[in-house]
Amino acid sequence: MWWKPPRFLLLLLFPLVSPLLFSSDSYSDACDPRSLPDPLTLRPDRLTVLINGYSEARLPLLHSLAASYAVQPLVAAVLVLWGNTSTPAAALASLASDGGVGSAPISVIRQSSASLNARFLPRAGIRTRAVAVCDDDVEVDARTLAFAFSVWDSRGGASLVGLFARSHDLDLEQRRWIYAMHPDRYSIVLTKFMILGTDYLRRYSCWGRLSEAQQLVDRERNCEDILMNFVAAKESGAGPVLVGGRVRDWGDPRNNGGGVGDGGGRVVGIERVGLSARSGHRKKRGDCITEFHRMLGEMPLKYSYGKVVEGVGEQGLCEKGGKLVLCDHQD
Ligand SMILES: *[C@@H]1O[C@H](CO)[C@@H](O)[C@H](O)[C@H]1NC(C)=O
Repeated sequence: MWWKPPRFLLLLLFPLVSPLLFSSDSYSDACDPRSLPDPLTLRPDRLTVLINGYSEARLPLLHSLAASYAVQPLVAAVLVLWGNTSTPAAALASLASDGGVGSAPISVIRQSSASLNARFLPRAGIRTRAVAVCDDDVEVDARTLAFAFSVWDSRGGASLVGLFARSHDLDLEQRRWIYAMHPDRYSIVLTKFMILGTDYLRRYSCWGRLSEAQQLVDRERNCEDILMNFVAAKESGAGPVLVGGRVRDWGDPRNNGGGVGDGGGRVVGIERVGLSARSGHRKKRGDCITEFHRMLGEMPLKYSYGKVVEGVGEQGLCEKGGKLVLCDHQD
C-alpha cells in the first residue's frame, strides 16, 4: 500500500519538534484523526471553498470573491487561509461572516507560516467530502462551480478537477522532466482553481514519504499544486480532469491596462501564457517534477485528453489519429 505513515516515528517526534516549528495550524494536530470530523459524517452534496490569501493589496478583491462563493448554494463554508503572518488581525476582521440567510459562513484562518503546503492541511472546519482550492485572483461563476463539482462527483471523487491545466514532458536529451502547456494533453491541474476530495488533504499532509517533497515546496515557494497532482494520480491511478467554464483570472497580465473591471468572464483553456509562464518559472516547475519523481522513486502523473464541457458534455472531445483531442484543436 502506498499510504503508510510511519506512525511510531511521528508519535515520538512530533511532541518534541512541533512546538518549535508550528503553532496554531500545526501538522501534528492536522494529522491526528481525533482533531477532525469523522470522514463518514462529511457532506457529499456540498463543498468547502479554501481561498489562499497573502497580498494585502488584494484584500478588497478577496473580500468580494469570498462573498460571491458564500452565496452559491453548493458552498457549505468558505475558509480564507491567510498566509501573511505580519498582517494585523484587524485588517482581516471584515472578511469573516457568520453567513446569513442563503449564505455560507466565511472564516479567516491565519496561518502560522507562509508555507504553501499549509493550503492542503486537513482542517476541522471542513465538513464536506470535497473542497475547492483556489487563488485569491480567480473568479469562478456559480454555474461553472456546480458543473466542475458534478464532474468531480461523477468520477467517484478520485480525480482532481481543474480549470487550468499543464503537462509534464520528457526532455530525452537531458533526461529530465519539463513543464509545458499543450492544447490537447495535460497531466496537472493548477491550484488557481481545483476541486479535490477532502481525503487527499490528509494524504498530502500526513504521508511521511512526502516530507522531502514538502521541503522543496517550501524552499521554492512553488509547486505545491504539482505535488498534489502526484498524490492524486498515485492514489487514483488516473489523471486530472479539465473542465471548461467561465472564469475570470485577475492574475492574468492581460487584465493590466484597461482589462480590469470591465466584467465578463472568458472561456478557459484558451488562456495564454502570462506571468507564470516566464521561462524561469517554467524551469523551476520542470525541476520540481524531476525532483518529485526522484524523491518518490516513481512518476505517477498520467495524461488526460480533452476537456469536459457543459451542455455538449463529452462531445467536446474529438478523435483524431486514435487520440481524443479538443474538437476546436483539430486542424
Ligand atoms: C504583509 O503584511 C505586512 C504587514 O501588514 C505588510 O507590510 C506587507 O505589505 C504584506 N505583504 C503583502 C504582499 O501584502
